[in-house]
Amino acid sequence: MTITDKKKVQHSLKPSAHPYLNGAWTPNFTEYTATEMTVIGEIPHDIDGVYLRNTENPVHEAIGHYHPFDGDGMLHAMSFKDGKAEYRNRFIRTKGFNAEQEAGRALWTGIANDPTLSERPGWGAQGHVKDSSSTDVVVHAGKVLSTFWQCGEGYQLDPHTLAPLGTVGWAPAEGISAHPKVDERSGEMLFFNYSKQPPYQHYGVVDRNNQLVHYTPVPLPGPRLPHDMAFSENYSILVDLPLYWDPELLEQGRHHARYYADQPSRFGILPRYGTADDVQWFEASATYVLHWMNAYEEGDEIVLDGYFQDNPDPEPLPGLPKTVGKMMANLDIHSFQSKLHRWRFNLKTGEVQEQRLDERALEFGTFNQQYAGRKSRYLYSVWGEPNWFLFSGIVKHDLETGESFSLPFGEQRFGSEAPFAPRVNAKDEDDGYLVSFITDMKEDRSECVLIDAKDIEAGPVCRIILPHRICSGTHATWADGASLRKEKNS
Ligand SMILES: [Fe+2]
Repeated sequence: MTITDKKKVQHSLKPSAHPYLNGAWTPNFTEYTATEMTVIGEIPHDIDGVYLRNTENPVHEAIGHYHPFDGDGMLHAMSFKDGKAEYRNRFIRTKGFNAEQEAGRALWTGIANDPTLSERPGWGAQGHVKDSSSTDVVVHAGKVLSTFWQCGEGYQLDPHTLAPLGTVGWAPAEGISAHPKVDERSGEMLFFNYSKQPPYQHYGVVDRNNQLVHYTPVPLPGPRLPHDMAFSENYSILVDLPLYWDPELLEQGRHHARYYADQPSRFGILPRYGTADDVQWFEASATYVLHWMNAYEEGDEIVLDGYFQDNPDPEPLPGLPKTVGKMMANLDIHSFQSKLHRWRFNLKTGEVQEQRLDERALEFGTFNQQYAGRKSRYLYSVWGEPNWFLFSGIVKHDLETGESFSLPFGEQRFGSEAPFAPRVNAKDEDDGYLVSFITDMKEDRSECVLIDAKDIEAGPVCRIILPHRICSGTHATWADGASLRKEKNS
């Protein structure tokens, strides 16, 4: 392995027994650039692009209780070209990160604490936390965009060097939620945000040149906690789900999410460039959904796949202090029981149909993004380690035959969201690789794996050993190399 750069960031985190500051969630503070890494198998020549993953690495001792979603964002990137790979990891130099580096300590408290503990005005729908840009990552208009689930400013980075390129110029005052959606065919990016102030939600479109070209309120009945949106070829789908901050406690300045099982799930569907007047609302059975899969149009219907939670407000995990047990349960897909589910919305009749696609607890879906907004045949999900926010394996669903295929990562091996990377000159929808970082606790190291999407049960075709064991995290994406080069030259 050749390490061409190695830098340690100043930190003040003390050792603790916190479950999300140890084991596979032990934070990283060192930034590496590495080439010529040890490879088990062979790096294929027909993969070209960058795999990016966002992770949470708290640099300073928390003010109050630490929640893993409070941690400072760090991107890990593996670039592939001509059978070679290059690895980098960099903290996202957010305004909050820089201010805390200067202070040498935390200045903002996290989501689970009294807002008055923050020393400076914060960001996000809660208003008092640091925008750590640590939740999601996409690539749009040739740049990496990291986002924060509570709504933040959105940070851009160079996709190859991870050099910081500042916040997005077009970010509205209400911010950008995690899960902006890139339509690879049109080059547009669709996004939303949510807040405690009326109209409580906005939706917008950014064009392929990174200009905000559409921004409109999509009013909600009150403060809500949407996490993701979906789109079809012509429509965008936003939600009003019955899990939100208890309004009475919110009046006292407390952010306590409560599930209202007697209220419906509401889906707002509007044309891509529609406004509040164009939104058609549909009601379906009560649930909470963290992540959607794909959506597409079929006749008069919009078909939407996602992970329906059977138990959106799980009991705390036993044997732990109640607040810790509740945090652990809220991070455990076996507790909230997220199941692959299909909704069909008839735009003519207003009718909704629902169908369960798989009874196993799954989440963090991916699919070939060239099929985003159109009917796709293959979906990929991960399953979790019981009691933990850790991914233990991948399931591939073939929606045409109803078959599914599984690949466990192995004992004490935890993966990441595994986006689909199309093979160069791919012929079919599943002609490509699933890419993931694995943190292997037995070997005390991490690796990047490539899995042939046509035969996931065969296991990785290639494993690249990283220069360090990396902290687990949240979302990941794949960016096509040829498209990035085209953007650079345009
Ligand atoms: Fe998410």
